[in-house]
Amino acid sequence: MKFELTEIQSLIQNTVREFAQTAVAPIAAEIDRSHRFPEELLPKLAELNLMGVPYPEEVGGAGADYVSYLITIEELARACASTAAIVSVHTSLGTWPIYQFGNQVQQEKYVKKLASGEWLGAFALTEPSAGTDAASAKTTAVLDGDEWVINGSKQFITNGSKADSYVIIALTDPSKGTKGMGAFIVEKGTPGFTFGEPEHKMGIKASCTTPLYFNDCRIPEDAILGEPGQGFKIAMQTLDGGRMGIAAQALGIAQGALDAAVKYAKERVQFGKPIASQQAIQWMIADMATRIEASRFLVYRAAWNKDNGLPYSKEAAMAKVYAAETANFVANRAVQVHGGYGFTEHYPVERAVRDAKITEIYEGTSEVQRMVIAGSLLR
Ligand code: CAA
Repeated sequence: MKFELTEIQSLIQNTVREFAQTAVAPIAAEIDRSHRFPEELLPKLAELNLMGVPYPEEVGGAGADYVSYLITIEELARACASTAAIVSVHTSLGTWPIYQFGNQVQQEKYVKKLASGEWLGAFALTEPSAGTDAASAKTTAVLDGDEWVINGSKQFITNGSKADSYVIIALTDPSKGTKGMGAFIVEKGTPGFTFGEPEHKMGIKASCTTPLYFNDCRIPEDAILGEPGQGFKIAMQTLDGGRMGIAAQALGIAQGALDAAVKYAKERVQFGKPIASQQAIQWMIADMATRIEASRFLVYRAAWNKDNGLPYSKEAAMAKVYAAETANFVANRAVQVHGGYGFTEHYPVERAVRDAKITEIYEGTSEVQRMVIAGSLLR
């Protein structure tokens, strides 16, 4: 057993860390406050080949592994959770299902543009009344001649209105439940496909979250991924990988909050000495660091399973639930270490508290992760 990164993983970690510190961290507070989608970062991320880290170079990716991809998300989230969300949803939800299930034409047409960062991707399963109960989705896709006609709406779509292509799940045969769903690629600008207003969120405010509306939206017959009926399984498998991305985002938020707490504890003087010398602060720092390290092992281990062709659904769920709860614990403690200053926008830890919350909710709540874990043990 080895507990060290490979040369390539270390190289990617250093590259992303430097980029995050020089290009992302300086704008993180401003884009959060103004709810501004950081358009200017996307070409820079593409230039560094960070928009398709786990995809082969032949299709425009960086040719690295999933561990490297999660390190990328972790390092981005350490500086800015919104930027990490944009890249994670693009890479593991917007690109992966096309890479994994797309035919040769779809690979050529979409994966190259997505993995190279020329296009931004998104994924849409959730609907206004189908969140955790994804199987109750109502959006339909009906074959009419050589076109699918899509009707319905999707809710809480990360990168909504910003992405160029969307993988959407719709019912092709409502009588068959989860076996009557298909996965489709819909391009921005297709007639009948529109966006609602961006949500005003508690955290990850610089990522754009909108509803999608489909009103007699016609797409070519060959815009389907795989066969009609495979959509739900494609969605679930996509989310297995996506959940690791969110786990890595949670890990990065936690690490960023710990970094800030350690720095502050050394600087802040009370009772004539830095608060870091107080046991009350030291124990908080110790608990934060220990949970972060445990999260990191779960996150990297889940990715390692995927890289090595081993099952990773349960491992991804364990990584996500643990890292998400750790991010919330650590961000909260980091504010406590900062005292009153931590409750203001002068320090990044109040943003960490707000950003951490979503990691317990999106791409499957912590309750869903526990359902997946228990389901795999008790089957
Ligand atoms: N891989 C492959 N197949 C899977 C699977 C997986 N991980 N999980 C389930 N399946 C299969 C099952 O084997 C079953 O197939 P069979 O009928 O052939 O046996 C089928 O899918 C149905 O499975 P379940 O009976 O377990 O389905 P369920 O209705 O009970 O749902 C659930 C289970 C885990 C709660 C699931 O609905 C779920 O994950 N819900 C949360 C959805 C979620 O994460 N939503 C976030 C979407 S992200 C988004 O939309 C936008 C964004 O920008 C973030």
